[in-house]
Amino acid sequence: MEVIVVKDKVAGGKKAAEIFKQEYESGAKVFGLATGGTPETTYAELVKSSLDFSDAISINLDEYVGLAKDDPQSYHYYMQEHLFKDKPFKHSYLPNGKESDAKKETARYHEVIETHPIDLQLLGIGENGHIGFNEPGTPFDSTTAKIKLTDSTIKANSRYFADPTDVPQYAYSMGIGEIMQAKHILLEAFGENKAQAVKEMLEGEVTPDVPASVLQKHPKVTVIVDEAAAKLL
Ligand code: GLP
Repeated sequence: MEVIVVKDKVAGGKKAAEIFKQEYESGAKVFGLATGGTPETTYAELVKSSLDFSDAISINLDEYVGLAKDDPQSYHYYMQEHLFKDKPFKHSYLPNGKESDAKKETARYHEVIETHPIDLQLLGIGENGHIGFNEPGTPFDSTTAKIKLTDSTIKANSRYFADPTDVPQYAYSMGIGEIMQAKHILLEAFGENKAQAVKEMLEGEVTPDVPASVLQKHPKVTVIVDEAAAKLL
């Protein structure tokens, strides 16, 4: 894994946007996208850039179960606000949080990923080492699933909600096996609260207890961390 240490998340966003540009110019057409606080600076840079995604496909990692596309807490809404309204793609796929038939929705999303092999997958990391919403203990070969969020993830993500009890308990998430099929994985981590997870991902044992540790087995991973997140390396 290539590890790039930057000063802060603004510098990290610039570096990540450069990697998007390189991949785009080398012919990448399918971009796996992430949500959360971490990729915000990357999306801000992409919006400022001259890149045109109108002939590209995007596939997001995850979505909360129960939230509609126009719910301001949904990842659909997040993507619209941070990227798609300024940089539309030919087609953008996200799991449908309003589909109550989990079997049907996870099969549909698996098919989307199989049909459009991901060239560059952007990832954040949870404080407990999760990627997407694949919580500790998820098998490395998992495919898209409905996930029960752990208390620690609900707590970490409650900062985006008016009331912690508003945080959905379930999400649809791309699986670890599908994430690992991406040709190039770009993981970003900013802030001291990610330092332990970053250390375990890069230097720890490869174990489902730390889902991101699976990335040690992927042939092409770029990790962008700020100084705070790199503190324990
Ligand atoms: C969420 C998302 C992940 C994200 C992680 C970190 O649970 N499902 O895809 O990487 O948490 O979020 P943040 O970037 O806000 O710290």
